[in-house]
Amino acid sequence: MRFTYLGHSCFLIESGSHRLLLDPFISGNPLTVNKVDILALKPDYILLTHGHGDHTADAEHIALANGSLIIANFEVCNWFADRGCQTFALNTGGKKQFDFGTVKMLSATHSSTMPDGSDGGDPNGFLLQAENKVVYIAGDTGLNADMALIPKYFVRPDLAILPVGDVFTMGYEDALIAAQIVETSRVIGCHFDTFDPIKIDHNKAISTFATKGIELILPQINQVINL
Ligand code: NI
Ligand code: MN
Repeated sequence: MRFTYLGHSCFLIESGSHRLLLDPFISGNPLTVNKVDILALKPDYILLTHGHGDHTADAEHIALANGSLIIANFEVCNWFADRGCQTFALNTGGKKQFDFGTVKMLSATHSSTMPDGSDGGDPNGFLLQAENKVVYIAGDTGLNADMALIPKYFVRPDLAILPVGDVFTMGYEDALIAAQIVETSRVIGCHFDTFDPIKIDHNKAISTFATKGIELILPQINQVINL
């Protein structure tokens, strides 16, 4: 799998010939202006962790332009279906096999209103299994005990995408504990630097992870990470 960082919590995930877009927030992100061409993304699928605008702002436009299937929880899917988008709804604990692989919807500790203030249901994370690899996508979340279920009853992730910016989600100190709980040795940080309250000290975050033997990648916009 190939991950291209598109700022904040947005990634283009390429698995074989399939293109998945995670939590698109591009046109309104001050760090991605003139750096990311939304029209070039052409995703087959759009995965949304929750309803907040910094995860969903560009989903409608991109989904309608490309006929992408939005995969999210029931409430988020209903909101986008009302706007003409194709959707597939999961809810916490459920999994579904698609042509690119399997998505299992996990819990997250956060909130989830839609951009217009309507109910976005519960926030979620995902366990993505494709190409014989497993990726834990935490979504916006605090550190929580449900994470311990992942390696104990499900599977040990090869990679975790964890928020590290603090204030609105867990910070990198708690993300390090999350990485240890889910038993992964490789983490891509997200949800950092986009806004003033979530600007972080990169060297300090990376070195804190390194003390526990865990790699933390804090990607640049458009950086590609292969798994
Ligand atoms: Ni959020
Ligand atoms: Mn967020």
